[in-house]
Amino acid sequence: MAQRKPRALVAGNWKMNGLKGSRKELAALSRLLERASGKPACEIMICPPATLLMAFREAAKGTGIKIGAQDCHVSESGAHTGDLSAVMMKDAGAKAIIVGHSERRADHGESNNLVRAKAEAAHAAGLVAIICLGETIEERNDNATLRVVGSQLKNSLPDAVTAANTVIAYEPVWAIGTGLTPTADDVKKVHAHIRKRLAAEVGDEVASRVRILYGGSVKPSNAVELMAVENVDGALVGGASLQAADFFGIISAYL
Ligand code: PGA
Repeated sequence: MAQRKPRALVAGNWKMNGLKGSRKELAALSRLLERASGKPACEIMICPPATLLMAFREAAKGTGIKIGAQDCHVSESGAHTGDLSAVMMKDAGAKAIIVGHSERRADHGESNNLVRAKAEAAHAAGLVAIICLGETIEERNDNATLRVVGSQLKNSLPDAVTAANTVIAYEPVWAIGTGLTPTADDVKKVHAHIRKRLAAEVGDEVASRVRILYGGSVKPSNAVELMAVENVDGALVGGASLQAADFFGIISAYL
């Protein structure tokens, strides 16, 4: 039976960027979407810093743009000074949480086990977990990409994965914020491998419908090519999601 392609997702990861005035970028994006010739065939999400979640939830009302968060603690509440729980993100307006971004794995020493626990916390709060995977430049040069990404996937994946509650984002660490991207052929190989490893964990049916995003220096000029690659179901966008015009340029790959 032919599998239906999952609905694509283009998500903007604002990282530690954005103050309250940044709401104007969301308004500008919504105007661009309104003026577009058709409706993009993808879901659109912005993951601002946690301080902007509530303001963005209000600003996004009626626009169809979803709001997501960038990280969460594994617990629901408790004595964890400075941390924020998945339930709090939901309360503030998030529909999804990015977990295991390479910047968190590197800057905060997050292990696959911790990433899995965070994905479970997102699920327990009724949110989508966007689980990030990706190899470093050293691992790529050692031809270890598929092995590293496969093992991150297996070990970061929570129980009870469904196509609705989990998104995978393949983000080669060396492509993030550098302007470098893998070739379309490389992306195709890694995404096919992720789909296969996913099927081994959750079965063919679920694996065929889980969205696998590509992330790392996606911009308007390469979005059409990257989004057309087999098994690429959207993008996780950093730098180019901060300006409405650039982000819209990427979303336009689905217009
Ligand atoms: P970039 O970041 O688009 O700025 O390369 C992507 C990401 O880290 O999610």
